[in-house]
Amino acid sequence: MKIGNINIDRPIILAPMEDVTDISFRLICKELGADIMYTEFVNAEGLARQSEKTKEKMFFLNEERPFGIQLYGGGDVSMEVASEIASSLEPDIIDINCGCWVKNVALNGAGAGLLRDLPQMKKIVEAVISKTKIPVTVKTRLGWDAENINIIEVSKMLEDSGVKALTIHCRTRSQANRGTPDYSWIKKIKSQVSIPIFVNGNIITPEDIKDVFDNTECDGVMIARGAIDNPWIFQQAKEYLESGKVISEIGLHEKINITLKHLKLSIQYKGNKRGILEMRKHYSGYLKGILNISKLRSELMLLNSYSEIENRLNKYIEEQNNEVEQIAKNLETINV
Ligand SMILES: Cc1cc2nc3c(=O)[nH]c(=O)nc-3n(C[C@H](O)[C@H](O)[C@H](O)COP(=O)(O)O)c2cc1C
Repeated sequence: MKIGNINIDRPIILAPMEDVTDISFRLICKELGADIMYTEFVNAEGLARQSEKTKEKMFFLNEERPFGIQLYGGGDVSMEVASEIASSLEPDIIDINCGCWVKNVALNGAGAGLLRDLPQMKKIVEAVISKTKIPVTVKTRLGWDAENINIIEVSKMLEDSGVKALTIHCRTRSQANRGTPDYSWIKKIKSQVSIPIFVNGNIITPEDIKDVFDNTECDGVMIARGAIDNPWIFQQAKEYLESGKVISEIGLHEKINITLKHLKLSIQYKGNKRGILEMRKHYSGYLKGILNISKLRSELMLLNSYSEIENRLNKYIEEQNNEVEQIAKNLETINV
């Protein structure tokens, strides 16, 4: 699979996710094997207004490459300006969001709203391409709703306009993020266009990833919510694709280690207060499966410094060790 200078066989990609794929989460996913990553979607009008908060979302490190900045907007003029601003940061990809289902995006003619206005989608895509030398890709859906699936027409139009790859979230806009994705469209799209096609939607386990690669002819797989719950998915999937087995067992120490690493990064990039606050949404994913998670999570939610959180997690490890020792002693007593 090739896009510009990116040349990766069967990439496993971290999806753009607003309020999730900030730099700290991305660095964790990179360490755990994500092949390509993106910013959260970046509002073109915010960029055109020079909003600092919007610009901040585009910040990335060299070690995150290959890296994409995702833009969204319904106006070709602001998208043109946004393309120039994003290009100045020299990402490897500029991605255009044509798939967001959320009302205030899609009903304002941006995101998936563009699936109902293909001339405007084409105008936007061509405006972005006209202002950059960086490869432009698009993330979109099958269509607006089940009665209006137009992904074949969209894919051909985008390839003709100069788009270098497509990610297809195999649901319609009306499905939002629910319901079963229909991956059967990927083969049909592949028979009509020659640019790389990435699949997205409900791909959660290493087995799902292998199934999608084996059965859809896709060039890459994009994971969104599956990575929030399990950022280890990238390395696990690679092991599974290579050997048919998942080798990495994610034990308690690793879960806590990654939690603390993320927390440290979050504080480093966002400051103590915001860093700790924004980390809170990750505890249930990172610590999933451990004993008494909801009690521990509730306690972590009340803590406001790195050292308090670290101490609580270390104490949790001790508590678990003690419990295991106690169980072993009880078993010994029974045996005697
Ligand atoms: C919290 C959240 C934020 C999202 N933000 C974005 C975004 O900024 N840009 C985008 O293209 N898609 C966004 N999405 C959609 C995901 O990238 C993905 O297409 C969708 O969740 C389906 O994949 P999944 O079933 O693996 O979660 C978001 C999804 C979630 C859950």
